[in-house]
Amino acid sequence: MKDLIFKAEEISVKLSYFNKASKVIDSLSDNVKYCVIADAKVLDMHQDFKNGLLKKGCFIFEVEEAEKQKNLETYSEAIAFMQKNGMNRQDCLIGFGGGAITDLTGFIASSYMRGIKYLQIPTSLLAQVDASIGGKTGINFGQIKNFVGSFYNPVQVFICADFLQSLNEQEFLNGFSEVIKHSLITSKESLEKIKKTSQEILAKDSDTLLKCIEESVQIKAQIVASDFKEKGARKYLNFGHTFAHGIESANYKSPIFHGHAVIIGMLMALKYSKELGFLQKSSYELAKEVISHFNYNFTNIDLDAELIFEAMKSDKKNTKTINLVLLREIGEPFIYEEQSSETLKHYIKEFINDFKK
Ligand SMILES: NC(=O)c1ccc[n+]([C@@H]2O[C@H](COP(=O)([O-])OP(=O)(O)OC[C@H]3O[C@@H](n4cnc5c(N)ncnc54)[C@H](O)[C@@H]3O)[C@@H](O)[C@H]2O)c1
Repeated sequence: MKDLIFKAEEISVKLSYFNKASKVIDSLSDNVKYCVIADAKVLDMHQDFKNGLLKKGCFIFEVEEAEKQKNLETYSEAIAFMQKNGMNRQDCLIGFGGGAITDLTGFIASSYMRGIKYLQIPTSLLAQVDASIGGKTGINFGQIKNFVGSFYNPVQVFICADFLQSLNEQEFLNGFSEVIKHSLITSKESLEKIKKTSQEILAKDSDTLLKCIEESVQIKAQIVASDFKEKGARKYLNFGHTFAHGIESANYKSPIFHGHAVIIGMLMALKYSKELGFLQKSSYELAKEVISHFNYNFTNIDLDAELIFEAMKSDKKNTKTINLVLLREIGEPFIYEEQSSETLKHYIKEFINDFKK
């Protein structure tokens, strides 16, 4: 007998952009049965949208505290809710909320009756440009984030600028770090565009925001399409993240915004790229300037070099060396295997001393 290889996965995800929430409702089909896993707080802030969903006949499962409830208990309550409402394989699930909800929804969709269709309606900027793109789903287990999960893509992602209006400034900036990251690993032109439109972005001008989000989503989508299971280019999306995870671990007693840790992590990676002789000074200065246009509040972040370094050493992505994504130039990321722990530790100390000035 001969071995036979067959290809079983041909995935396509439709990305749709809107500036009015009512248009998202109009796009839902009248002939499909929907169940919505929704962030209760966000739903409350967007009553017209909630009424629109109800008018379409959607069943809504509300989650009060998304990140806290991104767990097995909520998973099984949602499954029971769907079963009670007779959801089956030709029906469709919708995730409406920030990244905690889109992750939870994706995981439910991937396993309910061995997988049903789902749509994402991400409402935080982080979920729009990052969490809902790329098919990583998951829930937290015990104390470990995203310990249980799957790779499972939605059929469509609705990105609507209307929802972002109710996000507070620091939550908005939390997501904006990923936009900056996507530009830094892609091209100088993309970074220059952010610089030029920073005022409109901060004022949440719908048209400017949508254009900026679309470009950012496109960058992530292209990288994911080329490397769905993170064996190559998708690793570059970790730019700034090895440092950031160290910072987050060092602050575990009073959690901080992931995106704020990523900004500091990217500044660390940029400066290290420059100091090791890869990145030009002018490119480093440009990146720093762009970041400075946004009012990140870092006051509650404790930067302890020892703790950050120890956490980085135990990062699950490392083998024997500490692997960092650095830049040869803006738009040219590469994996740098740090051979000398002492050099890195010394660098982190120096960076933090400068950063605190
Ligand atoms: N799957 C992936 O590839 C991926 C990537 C990055 C992050 N994530 C996950 O995403 C989560 C973080 O995302 P997040 O920051 O969106 O978290 P989140 O869902 O907890 O939302 C953050 C806060 O913003 C609120 N919120 C959301 N939308 C709002 C709106 N429009 N107006 C007002 N408030 C709003 C939420 O109620 C919550 O309090 C984490 O669980 C993380 O693990 C997943």
